[in-house]
Amino acid sequence: MSILIKTADEIEKMRVAGKLAAEVLEMIAPFVVAGVTTNKLDELCHDYIVNVQKTIPAPLNYKGFPKSICTSVNHQVCHGIPSDKKLKKGDIINIDITIIKEGYHGDTSQMFCIGQVSPFAKRLIEVTREALFLGIDRIKPGNHFGDIGFAIQKHAHKHRYSVVREFCGHGVGKAFHEPPHVMHYGKIGEGDVFKEGMIFTIEPMLNMGKRQTKVLGDGWTAITKDRSLSAQWEHTILVTPTGFEILTLRAEES
Ligand code: MF3
Ligand code: CO
Ligand code: CO
Repeated sequence: MSILIKTADEIEKMRVAGKLAAEVLEMIAPFVVAGVTTNKLDELCHDYIVNVQKTIPAPLNYKGFPKSICTSVNHQVCHGIPSDKKLKKGDIINIDITIIKEGYHGDTSQMFCIGQVSPFAKRLIEVTREALFLGIDRIKPGNHFGDIGFAIQKHAHKHRYSVVREFCGHGVGKAFHEPPHVMHYGKIGEGDVFKEGMIFTIEPMLNMGKRQTKVLGDGWTAITKDRSLSAQWEHTILVTPTGFEILTLRAEES
């Protein structure tokens, strides 16, 4: 299957879904503190998504995923399953939200620091966010998907971080994951060309140590093999006639 081009009507629905996903992150932010369990964060998000937004938490039962959000702490890279473990001072956590509104998906994630975290962790989080936006900045009709990966990889390596390869961004729309795979490494000019109306995520994962990951026995939680810290940020993005529009932008970002 090739990369779908969304119609004007679909784009409008994706704008709504994207905004709603961003609003879940805004809602949960004040609760992401020391002492809270990731199960509590899952429950708060689930109730908000289902009862306030009247949208659907896409992860719940997706290929057997047991919860409504992903929570990936410290050396967890992505797809962490919420649990009864409490967050503690110095932890870093990615919360990944995907909601479905009128059949369309909004997918976005953000890092949070619990209390004071080490300057090393802070730097990793900042550089990963910069890498995401450097990738986004490459998007306009005529440029290539490889341009995104190149920009992200270049920034990561400049700061001596590694880029995870086993997980990538993806087309998103009626389906949670559509073509293409959006790689977070690559070469300029490689891969498909951006066309107006494409919608996909960029969600780089950068590690303080080596890039290799492994999936735990729960079948979901990916961790760094060397147990080094990992950070990730994600946005859902539309290709416009002259560039891009970030569909999951939060108020604090604009
Ligand atoms: N939200 C994740 C992504 O960005 C996917 C999570 S799949 C799940 O693609 F099943 F773990 F929820
Ligand atoms: Co995604
Ligand atoms: Co996501």
